Order: sequence, then C-alpha cells, then structure tokens
Amino acid sequence: MSSSILAFYTAVLSVPSLGFLIDTVQQITHRQICYTGLGCFSTDPPFTSLYRPLSVLPDSPETIRTTFLLYTRSNPTTANEQVLSAGNLSSIETSYFNSHKPTKFIVHGFTHNGHRQWIRNMVAQLLIKDDYNIIVVDWGHGAGLPYTQATANTRVVGAQIAQLITVLQQSFNASMGDMHIIGHSLGAHISGYAGERLQHLGRITGMDPADPYFQGTDEKVRLDPGDADFVDIIHTDSSSFLALGMGTSQAMGHVDFFPNGGKNQPGCDAGLLAKLGHTVWNAVSKLDYYAAEGAVACSHERSYELFTESINSACPFRAYPCTSSDEFHNGKCLRCHQDDCSEMGLNANKYRARGSLYLETEAASNYCDFHYQLNVSGSNNFDGKLIITLHGSKTNAGPIQLMKDIEVHNQGTIISKMFKTNIDVGEVIGITLDYEKTSNLVVGWAFPDAWTLNGIAVWSAADQKLYRFCAYNKIAANHVKTTFGVSDHCT
Ligand SMILES: *[C@@H]1O[C@H](CO)[C@@H](O)[C@H](O)[C@H]1NC(C)=O
Ligand SMILES: *[C@@H]1O[C@H](CO)[C@@H](O)[C@H](O)[C@H]1NC(C)=O
Ligand SMILES: *[C@@H]1O[C@H](CO)[C@@H](O)[C@H](O)[C@H]1NC(C)=O
Repeated sequence: MSSSILAFYTAVLSVPSLGFLIDTVQQITHRQICYTGLGCFSTDPPFTSLYRPLSVLPDSPETIRTTFLLYTRSNPTTANEQVLSAGNLSSIETSYFNSHKPTKFIVHGFTHNGHRQWIRNMVAQLLIKDDYNIIVVDWGHGAGLPYTQATANTRVVGAQIAQLITVLQQSFNASMGDMHIIGHSLGAHISGYAGERLQHLGRITGMDPADPYFQGTDEKVRLDPGDADFVDIIHTDSSSFLALGMGTSQAMGHVDFFPNGGKNQPGCDAGLLAKLGHTVWNAVSKLDYYAAEGAVACSHERSYELFTESINSACPFRAYPCTSSDEFHNGKCLRCHQDDCSEMGLNANKYRARGSLYLETEAASNYCDFHYQLNVSGSNNFDGKLIITLHGSKTNAGPIQLMKDIEVHNQGTIISKMFKTNIDVGEVIGITLDYEKTSNLVVGWAFPDAWTLNGIAVWSAADQKLYRFCAYNKIAANHVKTTFGVSDHCT
C-alpha cells in the first residue's frame, strides 16, 4: 500500500465517527481474513511473491457458496443428486454416502461449475467402474472473473473440502486412504490446499494444474507431493503463459504425465493465438472467456478428457520415462525397467513408477494409443515413403505412413521409427510394407526401384515384446505391398 493511502487511512481513523471503517482498514493493513471453522487466510508471503504480485483475500464462504453434490449408483444423475454439508450430519446420514466405499471428489477450475458436461461424463464413467461415493465440489460462485479473486477463493474451497473429509472420517469412520480428490486447473490447487490440512489423504490427481499464480511458487501455495500419499499429474497445456498455456509445466506430483509432450494437444488449434491477437492471460480473461473457452482451452480441457477415458479404457494409457518428448517421439523410450513405467489416469496408483513419464495419444477419442518401434534396414540406399500395416491376432492396424516422400536412407543403417495406433491388434503376427519410391525425378534416378531388406523388427511397448520378421534378403518393390510374417515361421 502506498504511503499516501496509509496516511489517508491514518487520518480517517483518528476521526471517531468514522470507526465503522476500522474493519475494512484492518483487513487491508493486516492482509488477513478469518472465517469460522476454516481458519485465517493471509496474503503475506509466500502468498504474495514475484509469481503473484497482486494477491487478494479470499471471498467469504457465503459468497463462494461451495456445495458438495453426492452421486452413487443409487443416485447417479443430477436429477437425484444429494447435497452434503459438513455442518449438518443428518445431510450425510440420510444420504447414500457409504463409508465402506472409496470416495472420489471432483473439483472444477476457473469459470466452470459442478454441472459442466465433462463432470457428468466423469461421474458416469466412475460409476460404471465401481460403486464409489462421488462428491462433486461446486464452487462456481467463487470461480468467476477476475482470475486473481478466483485464485484466492481456492484456499477457502480447499479448507471446506478438508472440513468435510474430517467429518466423514471422524463421524462416519470413512478411511482417509480411500479419499481421492481429482481437480482440474485451479481445482488441482484446491485439492492441494485440502490435502495439506489432512494427515495421509489417499490421493490427489491434478489435471493440468493452473500455471498463472502457481508455477514457481512455494509449496504452501500450490499443489505438491506433500499434499497426499500419492499425487499424480496430467500436463496437457503447459506451453508458455504468453502463448496462452494455462497449465503448469512444473512437476508437482510423485508422478507427472506429459501426454504429447504436455504443451499442446493434437487436434487443438495451435494457430489460435495468432487469430486472437492477444498474448496475455488477462487479455483472454477480458474477452468473452466463456464463449472463447472451448477453442482457447482445448489443450487445457484435454486433461480431463484423457482422465475420463482412462477410467474404463481397455487400452492402458501406458507411459514411459524419457529425457524429453522428442526422444520419446523418436521411439527411444519404449522399454520399461524395474517398474519405471506406469499408466496415466485412474490406474496410475497401481504402479511404483515416479517422476516424469511420456506417452502420445490420438487427436480425438479414442485417445489411448499402443506404441511401437519399427526398425528396418536395407542393403541398398533408398529414398521414398514407407507405409505399413500391422497384422495382429485380433485385427490389423494401418495403413500408417512412416516416412515422407523424400527421405533418404543409406544402405546398412538401421532406420528406427516410432508409430502408434489406438487399435488393439493383439499379438503381432505380420507386417505389410508398402514402399513408394520418391516421385521426385531430380533425385529419384539415383535410387533403385526395389529395396532389398536386411531385416525388420518391431518392439511392442504395451506388452514389452520384440517381434522379428522374415525379411532378410527379401525385396520390397516400388509401389507393391509386401507382407512379412514373424520370424518363428520363416521359410
Ligand atoms: C440438515 O439436513 C437435513 C437432511 O438433508 C435437512 O432436512 C435439514 O433441513 C438440514 N438442516 C439444516 C439446518 O440445514
Ligand atoms: C472403522 O473402520 C475400520 C476400518 O477402516 C474398522 O476396523 C473399524 O471397526 C471401524 N469402526 C467402526 C466403529 O465402525
Ligand atoms: C532398433 O535399433 C536401436 C538402435 O540400434 C535399438 O536400440 C533398438 O532396440 C532396436 N529396436 C528394435 C525393435 O529392434
């Protein structure tokens, strides 16, 4: 506060008839506010810092009007949702809440509310999976503009969740280890504030935790691994703040998943920034955020699409340790050693893998992919496209193009390519190669029409298995599809 404003308030306070201002001024000078049952919230450091220069006090619970909406298999829809209140035990006693069953909280982020379609979808998939108690935390009245205020309000919502969980544990004997909070964006940090107030909360899943005002801050301010016994994060929109990235790139969990590198998601329009002509979060906030959201937030919202698909997906969303998303894309990281791989989404807690894990997905549902590495080498130089079809015990996948029209490879070198498909082919039984020599006449004359192969091998990352094919000394002729079986049956 500037000294002239301080001087003003000092002057005002010296006039007794203006005493009614004292409350307001105390709030400003002390930068702290207390709410019954929830404790006090201060904007002192670390809540004010370089990363959050403007820090405000949270609104009151009366303003935020957080509601806890219970869904179970006995009341699965919004038409029969039940409202739970930490301060009213009979609201819990008379509900379908069953303390013997695990509980999933779902917490939305900025500008959303508890009745968004994505939340209904997630509730529906969770109830197909198991008879959970699902508690949707609706803090929509506190989640609106401006962003700074919504950010402050997350602290109150986190405290309210902790309060409800404490009641569920102390009055209903629910197990702390069975509590799992799933939060998106600001909701991920809310989950952290809740977990910080509880001993051994079971799990927090942070779906693209919000970046502005959180990245780089103290662990007290943001979600961190200390907030629950297991914290797993899905990063989907961590391109820089200035490029409208809304999610954090900072690792915040025991395990952090970076689908498609975690920055931008396939199928989301990366050119949008140019169209908008705005580069700063606050500029976006001032646009009709609600209308633009679907397009602007596509990568940010992909995090919950991926989590929801993971709940009942037959494809496992397997993820692998790697040094970078480029290395991953080049197929260098598809081998697992000593439990260092995991699955992104609901099953992440079944694995011991820790640290940053990578995977790629499709641009649309079904997102989950099976990843493979293909090695192929020939005894002559070649230049052209390679299109493959993978044959499996269940079905085939392809055609998948692995090389561009002009891509020169020298004899004897092993060409190694990663490829992926959302089709579960089962056991690999064969591969079809379609080699299309470059159509470029200027360079094409230098290369033979047919490609004489030294070998083909495919590593299936999902089942960690190597398949070799009967390709030695066989010919892949230009524009001819040639099929090779796995090598146990070579003739
Ligand atoms: C407490 O919850 C019960 C059951 O939902 C409801 O009937 C009652 O009105 C609530 N009491 C208060 C004070 O809100
Ligand atoms: C509370 O739950 C534990 C298991 O989590 C159980 O052993 C114990 O008997 C329960 N107590 C009551 C009073 O139901
Ligand atoms: C492909 O070649 C690389 C480099 O030689 C090797 O590390 C990898 O295991 C090979 N993969 C397959 C499928 O043979």
